[in-house]
Amino acid sequence: MRSEQWQKMTVPQLQKLAQELKAEKNCYIIAHNYQDVAVQQIADFVGDGLQMAIKAAETDADKIFVCSIKIMAETTKILNQEKTVLMSHATADCRLANMQSPAELQKLKAKHPGAEVICYVNSPATLKAQSSITCTSSNAVDIVGAMPRDIPLIFVPDRNLAAWASYKNDRPLITFDSFCYVHHQITLEQVLALRRMHPNHTLLVHPECRLEVCKEADMVCSTSQMIDFVATHDNVIIGTEIGLYNQLKYRYPEKNLVPMSMAMSCEDMKKTTLRGAVKALYEEAYPITVPDDIGRKTIDSLNRMFSVVQAL
Ligand code: 13P
Repeated sequence: MRSEQWQKMTVPQLQKLAQELKAEKNCYIIAHNYQDVAVQQIADFVGDGLQMAIKAAETDADKIFVCSIKIMAETTKILNQEKTVLMSHATADCRLANMQSPAELQKLKAKHPGAEVICYVNSPATLKAQSSITCTSSNAVDIVGAMPRDIPLIFVPDRNLAAWASYKNDRPLITFDSFCYVHHQITLEQVLALRRMHPNHTLLVHPECRLEVCKEADMVCSTSQMIDFVATHDNVIIGTEIGLYNQLKYRYPEKNLVPMSMAMSCEDMKKTTLRGAVKALYEEAYPITVPDDIGRKTIDSLNRMFSVVQAL
């Protein structure tokens, strides 16, 4: 198709074409919680990064199309090695995840030879492959709590998630200086002002926010935990990327939901538009590959997390 033809297509036409391409290509589409609603509407499953990868492993489809960022598509590929995994955008990636290189983690490990490495699942495979165990935003506190107390712990890459897990376990963690600019921008003053404006709302924040912001929240939770909470509560402040607020507002127009800040928008998540995604699917333009050894080591680290979580 020529570019003028793509430009002329309306949202319903693009969504219809996505359904046709999905059937024609035997493809399963997954979208992250932060994607635009119009993109989520073409997906077979919407969830957080790890949920998407796990859900995709249940499908018989030959191809998986990931509407999200590269680090999450990599996790999908690692858990679906025999399938073709395609991305919705060429350069959508995570600024936090790439703030420090795999070589810097090697240096940190060399400096602390007895330490175990915990790596946040929302990070590049090259970091996860160097860790002994992964964690998610919902289980980071429990994973740190499950590690033997006499062993030093390196926790990468998000310093705010590390600070929260450290605070909740009263245990020091060695970490990088990386942070998610979307969550880190929120200050305690902003949160206190929101509290004054909405005294009857429950304040949910993502643990990638600063420690002082997390301490002020009623609940610190992952995107999936926020979705579950809103299903049964009406007055809620949504302290994470704006895509999640938009999704929830669309699902529950009658509820009194308040975004923590309209400025909490992830540029990389927003690189995927409905038009761009359907075009990328049509062209199968952006396949994802992960070297075998990186994939194997990452699976070991993920499996360790799964067994710790099962034993909790
Ligand atoms: P979760 O969907 O795992 O809560 O995390 C989203 C996020 O903020 C990625 O950096």
